[in-house]
Amino acid sequence: MPSQPVTAAIRGRLLSFTRAPAGPGDLDCLTYHEDGLLLVGADGRIAAVGSWEELRGQVPEGVTVDDHGGRLVLPGFIDTHIHFPQTQVIGSYGTQLLDWLEKYTFIEEQKYADPAHAAANAAFFLDELLRNGTTTAVVYGSVHPQSVDALFAEAEARGAGLIAGKVMMDRHAPAALTDTAESGYRDSKALIERWHGQGRQRYAVTPRFAITSTAAQLEAAGALLREHPGVHMQTHLSENTDEIAEVRRLFPAARDYTDVYDRFGLLGPTSLFGHCIHLSEAEMARLSESGSVAVFCPTSNLFIGSGLFDLDALSAGRRPVRTALATDVGGGTSYSMLRTAAEAYKVLQLRRRNLPALAALHWMTRGNAEALGMAGEIGSLEPGRWADLVVLDSHATPAMNHRMETVDGDLEEELFIQVTLGDDRSVAATYLRGRSSHLRQ
Ligand code: GUN
Ligand code: ZN
Repeated sequence: MPSQPVTAAIRGRLLSFTRAPAGPGDLDCLTYHEDGLLLVGADGRIAAVGSWEELRGQVPEGVTVDDHGGRLVLPGFIDTHIHFPQTQVIGSYGTQLLDWLEKYTFIEEQKYADPAHAAANAAFFLDELLRNGTTTAVVYGSVHPQSVDALFAEAEARGAGLIAGKVMMDRHAPAALTDTAESGYRDSKALIERWHGQGRQRYAVTPRFAITSTAAQLEAAGALLREHPGVHMQTHLSENTDEIAEVRRLFPAARDYTDVYDRFGLLGPTSLFGHCIHLSEAEMARLSESGSVAVFCPTSNLFIGSGLFDLDALSAGRRPVRTALATDVGGGTSYSMLRTAAEAYKVLQLRRRNLPALAALHWMTRGNAEALGMAGEIGSLEPGRWADLVVLDSHATPAMNHRMETVDGDLEEELFIQVTLGDDRSVAATYLRGRSSHLRQ
């Protein structure tokens, strides 16, 4: 019997991963209840998961069952790299990384000095994540601490858990967007004290990338990590060839781009490096050895023309690098982790390898939770985890419905249709802590 009083009950086709699939057809990597019931405790955590028949007797009187019928119920999606102040940068035409930052991003991010603008966009941002079935995200704020205050406040009010930080940048950006090594340290520290461990919120120390931080600022970022064990670190690494050349010019003593961060103690198991496209063998070895995570952002890498993530090279047996999957909005072009997985599939096709549906959905849920060191909290439907859920409709569009006519009960094929054709339209509902936080019209 659940230890907490049951306050919500959700019925549907429950699907959750217990480990990464070995390949296509490895259905042993998941638990699946064709007619399942998930019970939520008063604390917002999963109290029990099983078949409808087995658990129906445990639904207390007065608790109505949310019956999703033939729809799939999965752990909510996890986005491991997204930019809060880029909701009005997404879909900006015609440039690659360094020009894109100057022409669009650094203009838009200046607006986040205004707390009212930040608050309004925090509401939009959370709405959009939840509409897409994303229940946890790792987020870059603007340089202004008030942007991160607005974001955390909105997330906490809704019951969502974010990992977020203010970007630190003390050079090569407009004056209105730069901090200093000292103020970046001080503002980040104050945010950690205010928000890290507050409700579901966690902090990520966020030096934007090596071009916009001096050595003194990277040193300060390293100090913040040492002084606050348990906080995450996020930055960008080896995304674009012009960027790499500029980093080499700015840090001539470093062996390579990864070494720039390594010198300041920024590698480790709570460190997330966005992109990691053009890494050398030595850099991958160092990321592997330190337990760092390489974050694959396929819609961004294609849209900004940065290159093709080399999953095979990164996962090579001798020194595998931990990986995660993410949207990178607004360099990325969709908030949907399903769309993101579809583009990941295409990038890997160009690399002459496949991405099975099971691997894609594992990545978006349990895999990303493991990459964040949070698999005990999120990413699977197991007692004790937060009841953050996404409900997927495999008949959401005419094209999906028509294609489903040929599926004939093959679960893996249905999941591949979700991954290739699904998006916000296939997200029928989203739950945070067992409470409905989005219901498709
Ligand atoms: N490198 C430094 N800043 C950014 C950013 O905002 N987006 C992307 N894609 N790469 C970056
Ligand atoms: Zn990014």
